Amino acid sequence: MTSTLITNIGELVTNDPALGDGSFLGIVHDAALVIEGEQVAWVGVASKAPPTDAREDVGGRAVVPGFVDSHTHLVFAGERSVEFAARMAGERYTGGGIMTTVAATRAASDTALRAHSSRLATEMLASGTTTIEIKSGYGLNVPDERRLLEIAREFTPETTFLGAHVVPPEYASDRDGYIDLVCGEMLEACAPFARWIDVFCDTGAFTAEETRRILRAGVTAGLAPRLHGNQLEHGPGARLAVEFDAASVDHCTYLSDADIEVLAASDTVATLLPAADFSTRSPYPDARRLIDAGVTVALATDCNPGSSFVTSMPLCIALAVREMRMTSAEALYAATAGGAAALRRDDIGRAAPGARADLVLLDAPTFVHLAYRPASPIVARSWKGGNVRG
Ligand code: NIG
Ligand code: FE
Repeated sequence: MTSTLITNIGELVTNDPALGDGSFLGIVHDAALVIEGEQVAWVGVASKAPPTDAREDVGGRAVVPGFVDSHTHLVFAGERSVEFAARMAGERYTGGGIMTTVAATRAASDTALRAHSSRLATEMLASGTTTIEIKSGYGLNVPDERRLLEIAREFTPETTFLGAHVVPPEYASDRDGYIDLVCGEMLEACAPFARWIDVFCDTGAFTAEETRRILRAGVTAGLAPRLHGNQLEHGPGARLAVEFDAASVDHCTYLSDADIEVLAASDTVATLLPAADFSTRSPYPDARRLIDAGVTVALATDCNPGSSFVTSMPLCIALAVREMRMTSAEALYAATAGGAAALRRDDIGRAAPGARADLVLLDAPTFVHLAYRPASPIVARSWKGGNVRG
């Protein structure tokens, strides 16, 4: 197996406190790192680096773990710029546009969906994202939900069945009939292509009781739970996520003190989606309040054509720092180790021996530039499983 030394790293963020300066980011200055096959084999100060087959000098720039985007809806067709423009002119986001995307997606060929998803995945990699989760939810019938997951699987093992995104109009007068379908035939067709089950538990989507029923069915079929919750209003999402020991509850725009207390005492991550709050002109969640209470926080893009047509994790980091009272260090941690926790993975989200060699080289001396220089192309390159990409 070939070993490659990446050396002259001005600032290496490992996310392993034992490796670096003692902070939770585990920063090593004047560092080097050895990649062996798909993994990180060694990390330390450059002067102590072991001999390797190959060597690359990155000129004093910063290296951070690859971003883990634990919440995307990447497989869809069409776009909804008209809706976005109307929102910026004062209209409220309700999730009502989901059916516009469902119609476009149902009408699209596999080839078109695959090509579009691939374009977005390439954009993500170019901005430093090395792991993505992808949800279904724009099919909302058995063949289309299954097909979206089959395509999603070509991009990532982190696929999520979201048949319970909204009730499609053909079931408007028979909600229970749709939920029966989701928990029965649709789940059976989709489970082989999914790791997770998700429900949009919010005003205008699914109630607490409906969410319980769907999550129970998913868990029985071998899927692990995660939830969309507390996006549009205060509601039961966060508490339900904890009740099911869900890996994550996502959005968390409206959280009560009681929700935060319950989350803090659980293993459920609060995944914040600042680009969705940006694109829907919603309030930003107060991440400071969550972190100070002891909740694990992740950042993700929520990439979808309705509430967040955003692929850039650096933008999410910048918004989190500027608008959600996170420090630059907390935001980077949330976009890497936080995302890994939201996917219950310990092989990603850190740059330490044994972890996957998923890394990002920044055209900057420090990770702080991610928020300090928003919209500048400071991601120089990514390594995914040890291979140079993006
Ligand atoms: O995460 N909240 C529900 N689903 C997506 C939005 C879907 C859409 O508007 O198309 C979200 O924001
Ligand atoms: Fe979402």
